[in-house]
Amino acid sequence: MANTVIMEHPLIKHKIGVARRLETGSKDFRNLISEVAMLMCYEATRGLELQDVEIETPICKTTVQELKGKKLAVVPILRAGLGMVDGMLNMIPAAKVGHIGLFRDEETHEPVEYYCKMPSDISEREVFVVDPMLATGGSASAAITMLKKRGAQKIKFMCIIAAPEGLERLRQDHPDVDIYIGSLDEKLNENKYIIPGLGDAGDRIFGTK
Ligand code: PRP
Ligand code: URA
Repeated sequence: MANTVIMEHPLIKHKIGVARRLETGSKDFRNLISEVAMLMCYEATRGLELQDVEIETPICKTTVQELKGKKLAVVPILRAGLGMVDGMLNMIPAAKVGHIGLFRDEETHEPVEYYCKMPSDISEREVFVVDPMLATGGSASAAITMLKKRGAQKIKFMCIIAAPEGLERLRQDHPDVDIYIGSLDEKLNENKYIIPGLGDAGDRIFGTK
């Protein structure tokens, strides 16, 4: 079974708390989601391998440690996942970006696929799937299945808020995927929204409601 990591950093907790507030508008909400993604990226990349490299400073020759040149990809689940991409790329600018389009049917709450475009060498990349919300887990699970069908082998999933139901589902469907969670909330309501959650992440990022 892969790891599940729940963030403990005070900056992450504070920023998620402000994002949850009803009165936080789209501009601030978008910035907060991006900042939390950046901080979570720092935690989720702890395991990246380093290599020794000989360099010359203005003073003398020395050996420094640099990333081993591992290929990375960030894959947002549209739409709301787009809000996490800039924060991730601030930390790992060389990563390629793939996109998966899924929306949750309002009646059945099942994910409906509408788009998928991946870097051609996705099977060689370590992939970070990002979506602010893990509710029933249907969207994240379907996105990871789509990625695996296209050859991705090393996948991590990052979300800002998770419900226990979604976490359970994702761990069952994809036990090989490390999961990084900003906050593990209480439960889902009868409309499959996360309690206390932060509402509809896509609508709040893009100001569509
Ligand atoms: C939201 C969210 C996730 C999904 C989570 O997207 O961004 O993708 O719901 O719910 P689940 O775990 O029950 O599948 P939504 O379908 O609202 O689409 P949007 O991002 O385009 O607004
Ligand atoms: N999608 C959201 O954006 N919010 C929820 O609480 C659940 C699904």
